[in-house]
Amino acid sequence: MTASPWRLSVAPMMDWTDRHCRVLHRLITRHTRLYTEMVTTGALLHGDQGRHLDFDAVEHPLALQLGGSEPEDLAQCARLAERWGYDEVNLNCGCPSPRVQRGAFGACLMGEAALVADCVKAMRDVTTLPVTVKHRIGIDRQESYEFVRDFVGTVAAAGCEVFIVHARNAWLDGLSPKDNREIPPLRYEIVHRLKREFPQLTIAINGGIKDDETIAAQLEAVDGVMVGRHAYHEPWAMATWDERFFGAHAPATERGAVEEAWMAYLDARWQQGQPWALAMRHALGLWNGTPGARRWRQVWSDHRLKSLPPRQVQAQATAARLGALEAA
Ligand SMILES: Cc1cc2nc3c(=O)[nH]c(=O)nc-3n(C[C@H](O)[C@H](O)[C@H](O)COP(=O)(O)O)c2cc1C
Repeated sequence: MTASPWRLSVAPMMDWTDRHCRVLHRLITRHTRLYTEMVTTGALLHGDQGRHLDFDAVEHPLALQLGGSEPEDLAQCARLAERWGYDEVNLNCGCPSPRVQRGAFGACLMGEAALVADCVKAMRDVTTLPVTVKHRIGIDRQESYEFVRDFVGTVAAAGCEVFIVHARNAWLDGLSPKDNREIPPLRYEIVHRLKREFPQLTIAINGGIKDDETIAAQLEAVDGVMVGRHAYHEPWAMATWDERFFGAHAPATERGAVEEAWMAYLDARWQQGQPWALAMRHALGLWNGTPGARRWRQVWSDHRLKSLPPRQVQAQATAARLGALEAA
């Protein structure tokens, strides 16, 4: 049996999972599904489409995450996703930020299952790409399983076959987005129950997952696991994934090879006149867990070095890392 395309993925994260970040992740795992940051329908329909949608072919498989709640707008954006060559369109029904709530999308859409169903249907009518939904297990203090069950049931009836479930509620009344990723308790059993009661749907679980043993255990209960912050902060943690979860060769067996390929990427952009720091910030955790990692990160974060070519900074960072290694 071939693995579900949703078996492992890196979560959509605003300001984090941009094109540069996704290229870095691809140097470490080829098979993990990647997601863009959320792009709102307004930004796509009225803004610079190339800036929001362009990506590099190495980023496949890649999903575009949309934020919006107007079926017609979402349909237009789904068309764009297909034209640009994405592999999936994902609707954000889990983001609790006040800005998103004012736009009446994100997590508050969980209270409007019929509207989400209309959105999914409108997108499915215009694209052959899978249309998927990322959501929470509830909003505010609504903790009954029936609430999320009815949401999934209603949206599935409109044709959505893949649900990515962040296994905690979104508290829309006063918690910051950051607190909303930490304070509402994780309740994995709710997601497992969804899978048991909707066996025909693809259900992926998300929230607080940090190691391969937990991923493997979750895959016994659901079809997929989505990892967010851990993958971002500790990118090398993904180095085991292709072999362990996809039975495939990993693109790199050591961090040095990833660093080298990443430097080539930064250098190529530098040659075209682009600063490296915006891309490099995503790689600052590459050596985490090894002696000298902190020194390496400090050099790359040093504002005084930002105007140097990346290879020169790399030389300093490596010297600092290895110096710390020797001192250890
Ligand atoms: C900086 C940051 C930005 C995020 N932006 C988005 C987003 O654009 N869309 C979304 O659906 N979730 C977003 N999330 C939530 C993550 O996708 C994920 O659901 C959450 O971090 C829980 O997974 P984790 O515990 O593995 O990090 C964001 C999370 C972080 C940390």
